[in-house]
Amino acid sequence: MKMPDMKQARKRTNNNINYTKYDSNLKFGKNKKYFVRTYGCQMNEHDSEKIKGMLNDCGFIETQSAENADIVILNTCAIRENAHDKVFGYLGVLKHIKDTINKDLLIGICGCMSQEEVVVNEIKNKYKYIDFVCGTHNLDNLLSIIKTKMDTKKNQIEVLSYEGDVVEGIPVSRDSKYSAWVDIIYGCDKFCTYCIVPYTRGMQRSRKKEDILEEIKTLKEKGYLEVTLLGQNVNAYGKDLYDNYNLANLLSDVSDIGIPRIRFVTSHPWDFTEEMVDVIASRENVMPYIHLPLQSGSNKILKLMNRRYTKEDYLKLYDSIRTKVKNASITTDIIVGFPGESEEDFMETLDVVNKCKYDGAFTFAFSPRENTPAALMKETVSEEDKMDRLHRLNEIVNKYSNEANKRLEGQIVKCLVTSLSDKDKNKVCGYTENMKLVNIEGPSDLIGNIVKVKITDAKSFSLDGIYVKD
Ligand code: 5AD
Ligand code: SF4
Repeated sequence: MKMPDMKQARKRTNNNINYTKYDSNLKFGKNKKYFVRTYGCQMNEHDSEKIKGMLNDCGFIETQSAENADIVILNTCAIRENAHDKVFGYLGVLKHIKDTINKDLLIGICGCMSQEEVVVNEIKNKYKYIDFVCGTHNLDNLLSIIKTKMDTKKNQIEVLSYEGDVVEGIPVSRDSKYSAWVDIIYGCDKFCTYCIVPYTRGMQRSRKKEDILEEIKTLKEKGYLEVTLLGQNVNAYGKDLYDNYNLANLLSDVSDIGIPRIRFVTSHPWDFTEEMVDVIASRENVMPYIHLPLQSGSNKILKLMNRRYTKEDYLKLYDSIRTKVKNASITTDIIVGFPGESEEDFMETLDVVNKCKYDGAFTFAFSPRENTPAALMKETVSEEDKMDRLHRLNEIVNKYSNEANKRLEGQIVKCLVTSLSDKDKNKVCGYTENMKLVNIEGPSDLIGNIVKVKITDAKSFSLDGIYVKD
C-alpha cells in the first residue's frame, strides 16, 4: 500500500524525469464488463480514454451502466469541493448496487481525488467497499493493481506523490473518430495559491516533441480532422526539456503535418509569448480560439493568487491577440470571493470583463483546497457575498456571450460535424472554428466532415444553422 503525501507532492527537485514505455501483457478481463465515469477537465477525459484503452487491451468490454458492470472506475476531479461532493454522492449509488445487485462489483477511484491525503485516508477508514485507489502518476499500473485486488481480495491503495514519469504508448480508446486529445505537458509548476493541481498532477513534464508529432501524424492517417493539445499550462511546453523549443515551435510543427484543425488548452497568460500569438495568427489550421484564464482583475488579488501578471499585462496580451488573430474567440475562467477580495477588487474584475467582452466565461466561487496556501488565508467574503458576486458577474458574462453569438447570425461559418444533435435527432451538430456549438439542419452523412453552415439563430449557449452546399 502506498498512501498519498501532500507535503511530498509539493516538492520540486532537479531530478531527471524518466521517459518510459507502457508495458503490460495482462489479459485477465475476458467476459468481464467495465464502466468508467469521468469528472472534471479535458485531461481527465483523455485519461479515461487511456483507462478504457488499457481495460480493452486486457480483454474487458465497456458497458454504459454500473448495474451491468463487473468493475466501475471513477476518474475523479479535486479542483473544487463540489467536484468531491459529486463523487461521494455517486459512491452511495454504487454501494447500493454492490449491496443489492452485485456483491462482487469492483469499485475503483482514479484521478485527482486519489492524490489527496484526506480523501484517501477517509476511503481507507470509512469506505471499505472501495476496492482500489490508483493515483495519477501510476495510471499505467492500473491493470496490475486490479489484478492484485482480484487475486488477493485485499483492497489496494497505490498512490505515488513524486514528480512522475512520462509514459509513452499507453493504449487509448478514443471517444471520437474525428477529434482527438493529445497530451503535450503533464503537471504544473505555477503554484497559484488556490489550486490543488500542482499537488495532484505533480511537476511540469513535457512530452518529447517527436512522440507528440508521431502521435498526431498517426491520427491524421486514421482520418482525424482535429487535435486538441492538452496541458494544465500548455504555454509552458518545452521549458523543462529544451533550450530552444516551445509551444510556438510545436504549433508550427503540428501545423505542418496538415491536420485541418489544431486547438490547445489551457493557456497561462504569464507564459504566453508574442511568438505564440504570431503562430496562431499566421497558421490557417491553428484555430482562432483561446481560453485565457483571468481569475481576477484586481492586482492585489492577482498577487495573492500568485498569478505573476497584472491586470495591465493581461489586457496587453488580450489586445495583442485581438489585433493579430482574425475573428478570435476568447474565453476565460474567473474566481470570485478569494480571501481578501473587496467590493472594489470585484469591480476591477468586472472592469476587465467589460473591456474584454469574452465569448464565454467559466465562473467559480472560491473553494479552499487541502494544503494549498489560499486555504490557510483567512476567508473574508461570506457565502452570501460570493453568490451575489457570482450572480452579478454571470449576468455580464452572459450578456457578452449572447452578443458574440448574435454577431454570427447570417454569417457562413465552417463546422466540424461530430454527431447527431442532442436536441433534435433530425439534425446534426458540430463546432465552428472558434468553438461554438451549432445545431445544423442537414443530412446525417455530414458527420465526420468540415462543412459550411449558415447561422440562422443565436441562442445563449448554442447556435442554429443550416448546411450550405459548396
Ligand atoms: N476555487 C475556485 N475555483 C478554482 N479553480 C481552480 N481552483 C479553484 C478553487 N480552489 C478554477 C480556476 C481554474 C479552473 C479550472 O478552476 O478558475 O482556471
Ligand atoms: Fe492551477 Fe495555476 Fe497551474 Fe492552472 S496554472 S493548473 S490554476 S496552478
